[in-house]
Amino acid sequence: MDKVGIIALGRYLPDRVLTNADLEKLVETSDEWIISRTGIKERRVAADGELTSHMAIAAAQDALKGSSVKAEDIEAIFVATVTPDSAFPSVACLVQKAIGAKKAFAYDISAACSGFLFAMITARQFIAGGMVKNALVIAADRFTSIIDWKDRNTCVLFGDGAGAAVLARVKKGGILSDYMIADGEGAPLMGVVPDKIRTPFDQSLDTARLPWITMNGQELFKNAVPGMAEAVRIAAEKAGISVADISCVVPHQANERIIASVAKRAGVDKEKFFINIHKYGNISAASAAVALSEAVEQGRIKKGDIVALVVFGAGLVAAANIIEWSY
Ligand code: ACO
Repeated sequence: MDKVGIIALGRYLPDRVLTNADLEKLVETSDEWIISRTGIKERRVAADGELTSHMAIAAAQDALKGSSVKAEDIEAIFVATVTPDSAFPSVACLVQKAIGAKKAFAYDISAACSGFLFAMITARQFIAGGMVKNALVIAADRFTSIIDWKDRNTCVLFGDGAGAAVLARVKKGGILSDYMIADGEGAPLMGVVPDKIRTPFDQSLDTARLPWITMNGQELFKNAVPGMAEAVRIAAEKAGISVADISCVVPHQANERIIASVAKRAGVDKEKFFINIHKYGNISAASAAVALSEAVEQGRIKKGDIVALVVFGAGLVAAANIIEWSY
C-alpha cells in the first residue's frame, strides 16, 4: 500500500524583526548572553492586529501554491497552536473558510512546541486509516502575545510565525514511522497562568493581569535533551533504520545548546541538524514546520533522503518521525 508523505510545504514569518539589541533596551540582558546561551540573534513579531489565524492562512496558502492537491479538494485541516485568536472558534475553521476548503473538517491541536508533529501524526493516521485522502497540517503561534516583556528569563527566547504541510498518499518514500509521548509529571515546568480566574463573586478582577508564560528553563533543558534523543532513537528503530542512515534531522528550535546535546546523545553528527534558531528564536509549534520548509527549499533535504523530525514541548510532550523524502 502507498505510504503517506508530505507533498508540499509552506511558511509565513511576519516582517517585524526584534533584535537582541532591541531587547537590551527592555530588560537587563546582552547580545553576547543571548547568543552564547541560546544561539538566537533575532526573532519575528507579528504586526499589531496580525493574529495566529492570519499567519496560519498565509502559511497554508504558501504550501498550497506548490501542492498538486488544491484547497477545494483538501479533506482535513489540523492547526497546531497554543496561541489561538480566541478559545473558539478554532484557528482551523478560520483557515478552512479563508482558503475555501469546503470539503474539509477542521480542528486545532494543543501540544505546545510539539504541535506540528502531533498534528502531522494525527493527519497520517486519518489518511492511512482511509477516512480522508489528504490533509493540510499547519503550525502557527503568536508567542510574543503571551510573554511577560519584563521577564528576561523568557522574553529573549520566543517569536512568531507559521509553517504548513500538505499530506497525501505518495508512490515513493513517505513517512516510515512515528512516535509520540506525554509526561504530565513535567506539566508544572512551563505554562500560561492567568493571574486570577473570573467569577461573578469578585468584581475587582477587571484589573487582573493578562496571562503570561512561566518557565523553569533549566529543568526543561534537562528533560528536553534525553526526551528528544530517545524519540529519535525509537522512531528510527520503528522505521527499521539505523540513526546513521538519517541524512537530515529537523529539530524543534528552542536552544542551540539543546540541539547540540541531542545530537551528541542520539549519536548523530550535529552537522546533520538543520538549525535556523538564530533568525527566528523559538516559534513554538511553528519552529519545526518553518525549519522543514527552509531545509527543503535550501536543498538540505532532497528526494530519497532519510529525514528525522523531532520535537519537545510543554506538557511535557515529545515526538519524532522518520520520513523518506518523496520529492
Ligand atoms: N540575559 C542575561 N542574563 C540572564 C538572562 C538574560 N536574558 N536570562 C537569565 N539570565 C541569568 C540568570 O538570571 C542567571 O543568573 P544568576 O546566575 O546570577 O542567577 C544566569 O543567567 C544563568 O541562568 P540559567 O537559567 O542557569 O541559564 P541557562 O544557561 O540555563 O539558560 C535558558 C537559560 C536559555 C532558558 C535555558 O535553560 C533553556 O533554553 N532552557 C530550555 C527552555 C525551553 O526549551 N523552553 C521551551 C520549552 S518548549 C515549549 O513547549 C514552548
